Formats: sequence, structure tokens, C-alpha cells
Amino acid sequence: MRITDTTHVLVLTGAGISAESGVPTFRDAGGLWEGHDVTEVASPEGFAADPLLVWRFYSQRRAGMQGIEPNTAHRALVDLERRLGDRFLLATQNVDGLHAAAGSERIIEMHGALMRSRCTRCDRPPFADTTAYRAGVAPMCGQCKARGVDALLRPDIVWFGEMLPEGAIAQIEAFVRRAGRNLAFVAIGTSGLVHPAAGLVEAARRVGGTSYLVNLEAPANVTAFDHVVLGPATREVPALFT
Ligand code: APR
Repeated sequence: MRITDTTHVLVLTGAGISAESGVPTFRDAGGLWEGHDVTEVASPEGFAADPLLVWRFYSQRRAGMQGIEPNTAHRALVDLERRLGDRFLLATQNVDGLHAAAGSERIIEMHGALMRSRCTRCDRPPFADTTAYRAGVAPMCGQCKARGVDALLRPDIVWFGEMLPEGAIAQIEAFVRRAGRNLAFVAIGTSGLVHPAAGLVEAARRVGGTSYLVNLEAPANVTAFDHVVLGPATREVPALFT
């Protein structure tokens, strides 16, 4: 990919970029949703029906992050950001925190963060929480408890049917508008099925930008991209930006 003094790069990442670090994807064989009904473990209705089941699911995912490190694809994005500064923006659907761990700074976590919790009732800000809660114990908000109110904690994850974090989409759209024809939109390791992330390739096209896809296999929306590289992210992402 040719990068000039005016090139603006918007990167969208999905579970595929972390797969080679050892984080399971969602929709591949052996993926996270296999054996789980998405609406049971990743929706407000599922949480209302069975908070313990939901906490077991996310507790397993938290425990599964032990010893997991960013890979060369995450690191290639850090190098690119250092080159481009404010002409770079990283929108991730991942909740694993590996982009920040690698050193990326201009990140929009569209779907929240696995290692953060928040109260379902009070407006205390989401807080860092790596606890894998033991089965049978639903975590409660300590601040509410101090006021004599029982309120469940929940993972700070954007579930199906929920709004994205305030300002996330606006920030991405502003970047796309500012970049215009100088935009290079690069999607990495995402099946392109979940909106609004899946619609970004069209947004890039509308402003006259160029789109790239790096993915192990051709996803459903593959024809929407100008350039497609099929292969593992750890090999293809560093190669794309050299
Ligand atoms: N390198 C590149 N791509 C890979 C690799 C790899 N090593 N391994 C897998 N992939 C690709 C798969 O081929 C697949 O197309 O990554 C994609 C992962 O797709 P999904 O599992 O659907 O993950 P994602 O697109 O991030 O899911 C989007 O859906 O379940 C919700 O909120 C959840 O953020 C998630 C969203």
C-alpha cells in the first residue's frame, strides 16, 4: 500500500487480528459463539434472565486472556500510527485490550472492554476489573451497597441491541469526512457481518477513499473492497504497510 504525506488511514479490526495471539474468534469453527446462544450471553435480555450465566461466559474469557500477548499485526499498527500521527485512527470491535497493550493510542473501542466492569444502576464510571467471578456469585456494586441498594455489576461490553459508546461513530465519521479522497480504509480480521462496523467500507467509498481487506478467508462483504489480501494477519498486516 502506498502511503504519502496526505494519506489518512482508518483501520477496523475484528477478532481475526488477535486469533494468532490465542484469542478465539466468534464465528470460526471452535469460536466463542459455538455452543453459546448469542442472545443468552450477549444481550441485555440474556443478562436480565440469567446474570450468572453471562458472568460465567465473560469470566471464562477474562481467565482465557492470561499470558496472551499482542502479535506482529498489532505491533505493525503501532508503527503505522507513529508514522502518521493524527492521520491514523484505529476502530476496533475487539474487547481484548491487545491494541492498547501493544501501544496503540488513537483507538476507538466500539464494543467496549472485557477487562472493565460497570454498575447496572449508578453512574460511576466503568472501572478496570480483571476478576473472573466464581460460579454462583453474582458481583454487586460496592458503591450502591454502601447506600443500601442492591445492584448488579455487568461487563463493560456492548451487547447485541445496545448503543455504541457515545461519540464512537461520530468520531469515526469525522475522520472519514476529513480524509475524503485521501482515506485508506483497512479492515483486518473481521467477518463483516456486524453493523455499524460492517458499513464502514461503504462510508469510505462514498468519500472517494480506497479500501483494503486483510482476512484469512473471503468474508460475506468481500466484493465491497478495492484490494483484498487473503492470509494470516501476522504475516499480511506488517507486509501491507512496509
Ligand atoms: N488472520 C486474519 N484473519 C483471520 C485470522 C487470522 N489469523 N483468523 C481468523 N480470521 C478471520 C476469519 O476468517 C473471520 O472472517 O477473522 C474473522 C473473524 O470474524 P468473527 O469471528 O465474526 O469476528 P468479528 O468480525 O470481530 O465479529 C464482530 O461480532 O460477535 C460479535 O461483538 C462481537 O465484536 C464482535 C463482532
